[in-house]
Amino acid sequence: MAKAANTYLVQQMKEQLMSKAKEVLENNFQDGGFTIPSKGLYPFQWKWDSGFIALGYVHYDLEKAKQEIETLLDAQWENGFIPHIIFHNDSDTYFPGPDFHESHLHPQASKKVRSTGMTQPPVTGFILERMLEIVGDELLPFIKEHIDKVFENHKYFYENRDVNNEGLVYIYHNWESGTDNSPMWDDIWATMDSPEYEFERRDTTHVDPAQRPSKREYDHYLYIINIAKEHHYQDAQIAQHSPFLVLDPLFNAMLIKSNDALINLYKRIGDSEDKIAFLEAKQLLGKENFNKKLCNAELGAYVHYDLRKNEQIPFVCSSSFSPLFAGIPDTSRAKILVNTMIEKFGGDGRYLCASFDPSHERFNPKKYWRGPVWINMNWMIHHGLKSYGFDELAKKVKHDSLELIEQYGFYEYFDARKAHPEVTHNGYGGNNFSWSAALYIDFMTNAD
Ligand code: GLC
Repeated sequence: MAKAANTYLVQQMKEQLMSKAKEVLENNFQDGGFTIPSKGLYPFQWKWDSGFIALGYVHYDLEKAKQEIETLLDAQWENGFIPHIIFHNDSDTYFPGPDFHESHLHPQASKKVRSTGMTQPPVTGFILERMLEIVGDELLPFIKEHIDKVFENHKYFYENRDVNNEGLVYIYHNWESGTDNSPMWDDIWATMDSPEYEFERRDTTHVDPAQRPSKREYDHYLYIINIAKEHHYQDAQIAQHSPFLVLDPLFNAMLIKSNDALINLYKRIGDSEDKIAFLEAKQLLGKENFNKKLCNAELGAYVHYDLRKNEQIPFVCSSSFSPLFAGIPDTSRAKILVNTMIEKFGGDGRYLCASFDPSHERFNPKKYWRGPVWINMNWMIHHGLKSYGFDELAKKVKHDSLELIEQYGFYEYFDARKAHPEVTHNGYGGNNFSWSAALYIDFMTNAD
């Protein structure tokens, strides 16, 4: 009897949270047909956020899911580039805004809408494939209408950012990685002599500064943008002059996963042999070099690669496991990754999966991408583990994600430490954060 009552209460709580998740998305939805990540802190449309957000909507509001993708693709530049922030609207709660970024400096930038001149992980391809799986053939006309824009975006990457013709593309700014202040970048900052800028931060008026990047880090972020602006955001010039030039395993894994999705979708659509052949050639080359260049046997993980120094950046972070989601490691290497995850990131006292190696001195459990758990990373890791048959661990990653949200709310990131004396509330950063809500909906709608 007591058990039945308990089950009923749990069920009720989950239903309430599903409604709350939808409410978060509704409240963050804007008149222009896009969804902001979080009020105040992130008041515009972000590239990879929009993909995860669309995946939340697709379960209950197909029109909004489509709009989310359309407003993003509508900001594409003539050269295929899709920016990381689209300033559809004005807002003075965010720095640096459109006047700082000056995307118009690039001759092929969108004439319709202002944006940044940098990008973010290319998730749109695999999001479209997943939307089709959920909705069914009814979505095919929508896919047909938009898929070429995503293809053009991938082509842009290979034609402009694959400096060694190795099927791997660079990022020139830490904001392009999506993992903004990761300890990965610390040694790059140490090589830079960035000016001390005077500017007014807005993020720290919304969030405790202990959970955000430092002022000095912001100097570096702005300095790289200024260098890119001096060169009118021309990729060839950036590749020569940017002090930050990195092969990021997360970014490249997203590209490879989305390539696979585009290939599958083009096969469904038919009459697309040239595009399929282009993507398949990149897949072969990219996967091979990914395994050669970004794998670190000693650490048992994939790592970043600094193209300026021509050497690996030897640290393990949650991005190190993202290649599982793109089918990049063979099964024996996948097993090694799993062992690393369990040994370094696992353990009873911790939620999976911290964003940075908890055994490392650079780990910071509260500071953004220097340690906290992020729901979008967990979502990718969960699906990656499942695709290799690591069902138990996949379940744990999902379970931990749901528990964090159920106990603390739809936060931007979470403390990985369980029942730690220093931690009374594990949710950090922005609250009512869109992708945490959207991926909660997707997690809850899939039985796995
Ligand atoms: C932060 C995150 C980035 C995200 C953006 C908007 O900058 O680091 O990954 O896209 O916020 O949510």
